[in-house]
Amino acid sequence: MRRIVLYIFLLSFLFSCQSTKKVLPSQKHLIADKAMVVSAHPRASDVGVKIMKRGGNAVDAMVATNFALAVVYPRAGNIGGGGFMVIRLPDGKAKALDFREMAPGKARKDLYLDEEGNVIPGLSTAGGLSIGVPGTVAGLHAAWKKYGRIKNWNILLQPAIKLAKKGFAISKSEARRLNKYQKDFIKYNPGNKVFIKDRWKEGDILKQPELAKTLEIIANRGPEGFYEGEVARAIVKKVKETGGIMELSDLLNYKSKFRLPIIVYYKDYKIISMPPPSSGGIALGQLLHITENYPIEEWGFHSYKTTHLMVEAEKRVYADRAKYLGDSDFYPVPVDKLLDRDYLKDKMADFNFESATPSDYIIPGGFELQKESFETTHISIIDKNGMAVSCTTTLNSNYGSKVIVDGYGFFLNNEMDDFSAKPGVPNQFGLIGSEANSIAPYKRMLSSMTPTIVEKNNAPFMVLGTPGGSTIITSVYQVILNAIDFDMNMYDAVQAKRFHHQFLPDVIMYEKDAFTPEVFNKLQQAGHQFKQVRALGYVKAILVRDDKLEGSGDERNPDDDVSGY
Ligand code: GLY
Repeated sequence: MRRIVLYIFLLSFLFSCQSTKKVLPSQKHLIADKAMVVSAHPRASDVGVKIMKRGGNAVDAMVATNFALAVVYPRAGNIGGGGFMVIRLPDGKAKALDFREMAPGKARKDLYLDEEGNVIPGLSTAGGLSIGVPGTVAGLHAAWKKYGRIKNWNILLQPAIKLAKKGFAISKSEARRLNKYQKDFIKYNPGNKVFIKDRWKEGDILKQPELAKTLEIIANRGPEGFYEGEVARAIVKKVKETGGIMELSDLLNYKSKFRLPIIVYYKDYKIISMPPPSSGGIALGQLLHITENYPIEEWGFHSYKTTHLMVEAEKRVYADRAKYLGDSDFYPVPVDKLLDRDYLKDKMADFNFESATPSDYIIPGGFELQKESFETTHISIIDKNGMAVSCTTTLNSNYGSKVIVDGYGFFLNNEMDDFSAKPGVPNQFGLIGSEANSIAPYKRMLSSMTPTIVEKNNAPFMVLGTPGGSTIITSVYQVILNAIDFDMNMYDAVQAKRFHHQFLPDVIMYEKDAFTPEVFNKLQQAGHQFKQVRALGYVKAILVRDDKLEGSGDERNPDDDVSGY
């Protein structure tokens, strides 16, 4: 019977899939009645929606969409990385799932230091030593096993397998990135025929037969197909060949973990987000608690007072992040203290409306922001029963460590760079850390990923998240304020210009036209420094309003897409 159901399902997929020969146009804004997926690629959103139309719930859709992204969005979608998921069940219970990568058992605190104790540049960002033990396959399987409705795991991987086998037409932005990283691909994967090519262009067909084979093994064997056997052996072989220290036992020991979500209240809203080893939930909660003490809805969107307050709050919150946050299984993160409203009032005691507080005054020290991409990817989903899932996954940089597992066709992460290699020395995002986030065997590196669900009147109100490295937290913060305090619809809340301050370096990163010239001048006069950047985050969000779902992808990412019914 099971076989017949699977067969019928596969046939219906076969007949319903759009041609893979052309680049699918992406849709940035959609109003729908029942269910919605917002992801970084139209083909992936399409897969999630089809799973829900065929009886799957939001978790089933999340699993299938993630596997599809591993094929169609290889710069960040993955099976060789990790991530976090926040789930709100239809009865209102909230769950948080940690499938973050962990340090291999042989990792040591001084892994990236030379004999003089200085950080060796590049070791934590590319090649074998930058690779953490992947968590994605374990995490997706754990989510499905506990909360999925589709009985057969295999079904959830079929769309991804088909896309990998048949190939699909790549977008302009994927072609641009594939070209940009060719030298790195060649360095770590000489002879690779899938990703290495003279010149990629929009519309070229990317076929990934080796990845299709790997996905088939995972479809048939579950996580054992990835963490044991031929795939695990191939991972360890390639990691070692490229200078790493991962062992088969590291893969065998990897476990995803359900954790208590961070829950904070902001005005009439309940915010559900990710606990450590992500800093996202705590930092977002701190920012919202501080903001609640000031009438920003009266001051207005990006007015001088609102911006100055938000920037000053961000400086203090990121200083706490650097000092106190890390994997709570290894370090006693003072969660309650950090979210305590009186503690946060004390933190803002030296805040004034006239002048910027120098970061050096908050904690002394300083450095320049490194130039790197802020790649990661996010999926927001709501199903017809009100189950909501917010999931952010990553390889860290574009295509992670640039290391591809030979014969199995997938990129491995460079997530080890999210550890603090040495107290006070910045990682690729310019973030510093301390003992709380130092390297230890089996420890999980601190993240900024902030998959979040907002409730109002005990019902889902918003599902959101974004890539963006250190800027993830402030992007999520701003989109929440845009919708709640500045009464924007979902599309406007996502597209509104953003800014970001992370304590060090002591600059406001901002998008073009984020401020009026008057506000900009006034902020400068108050002592703020500025650095313009192309984009801060690619937010994917869904708002529930008047019984309708309003989804928005981010115009900043050409591939972002909303799909629903
Ligand atoms: N790799 C980016 C993050 O986890 O925050």
